[in-house]
Amino acid sequence: MTHIDQEKLERFVGQAVGDMAAAISGLLVHVGDRLGLYQAMAGAGPLTAEELARRTGTTARYVREWLCNQAAGGYVVHDPEHDTFELPAEHGAVLAHEDSPVFLGGAYEAIASCYSDHAMLIEAFRTGSGVGWERHDHRLFSGVRRLFHPSYTNFLTSAWIPALDGVEAKLKAGASVADIGCGLGSSTVIMAEAYPHSTFAGFDYHGPSLEAARGAAAEASVQHRVRFETAAADAFPGTGFDLICLFDCLHDMGDPVGAARHVRQALAHDGTLMLVEPNAGNTLQDNLNPVGRTFYGFSTTVCTPASLAQPVGLGLGAQAGPSRLTQVLTEAGFSRVRVAAETPFSLVLEARP
Ligand SMILES: C[S@@+](CC[C@H](N)C(=O)[O-])C[C@H]1O[C@@H](n2cnc3c(N)ncnc32)[C@H](O)[C@@H]1O
Repeated sequence: MTHIDQEKLERFVGQAVGDMAAAISGLLVHVGDRLGLYQAMAGAGPLTAEELARRTGTTARYVREWLCNQAAGGYVVHDPEHDTFELPAEHGAVLAHEDSPVFLGGAYEAIASCYSDHAMLIEAFRTGSGVGWERHDHRLFSGVRRLFHPSYTNFLTSAWIPALDGVEAKLKAGASVADIGCGLGSSTVIMAEAYPHSTFAGFDYHGPSLEAARGAAAEASVQHRVRFETAAADAFPGTGFDLICLFDCLHDMGDPVGAARHVRQALAHDGTLMLVEPNAGNTLQDNLNPVGRTFYGFSTTVCTPASLAQPVGLGLGAQAGPSRLTQVLTEAGFSRVRVAAETPFSLVLEARP
């Protein structure tokens, strides 16, 4: 009979109960995000459930139960004397302010899409077939945009591009840039706003995402310098680009080596590839932490199935790490590859032909 270490059992039950609370509360974070509850609480001071319901056009009974869950999780602070609830400013930065570098609302929107799509995943585990990016609940597309947008807003033009060799000067003077797997065009539009003398082409194989990207470009008044075209990463048109970027998408592709090879051919002779991927170490041991756990989660539910649905089906995974990514780029013919920058969520590689 297996010996049970009582202390170990209790420790793990405690951990699993915490995760259970987080799993159901994650849905409630998404609900709060959708209904604008956090936004209404941000900076508002202590509010009763009735006041919050009035401000958000929702129903007090539901809002009260939601607030109780939030208070139990330490997301809001309850004042028992006045029966009010307050969102601390620091929590507002994580839950209410879209452009804050620590905003996480988008992650919960993407996670909600994963829960809703779980039947496809179970089938994929059994058959080994892939699940194409385009088959997902549409909240994946908007959730991923909102998940990465704060990083791009806060680091892309202030830290990542300046960390590349000679690229910022080219973009300021006027360069030709391609953003591959651009999704809803968040990174493309941010770069277009920052470098008014440069032109930008965003490519993605998912047409509906590009419709939203065109809307974002028009909203930012950069549409005359930004075009979006439906194209696969190993077949997009054009050559002579000064900079080609891939933001958090190479690992979603079936043939990352083929895509990188095509990128290399499309670059000017002195052009640069900027590859942004979820931050990870080189070994599983390096990634046994909350960020690794999250990205292995997305990798299992979305990224690996997306790759397996495409020709070649390499299934690189979202936690490949710098060594494996360098190997992919080297195999594609790049000769100089280095890590140029990193943040807790992102790894930025520079590669030259
Ligand atoms: C995780 S999303 C990232 C989107 C965007 N770059 C961002 O950071 O917000 C991955 C994107 O890669 C695109 N994609 C996946 N495989 C592709 C391929 N073979 N060719 C072009 N785009 C692809 C998907 O359609 C999706 O928009």
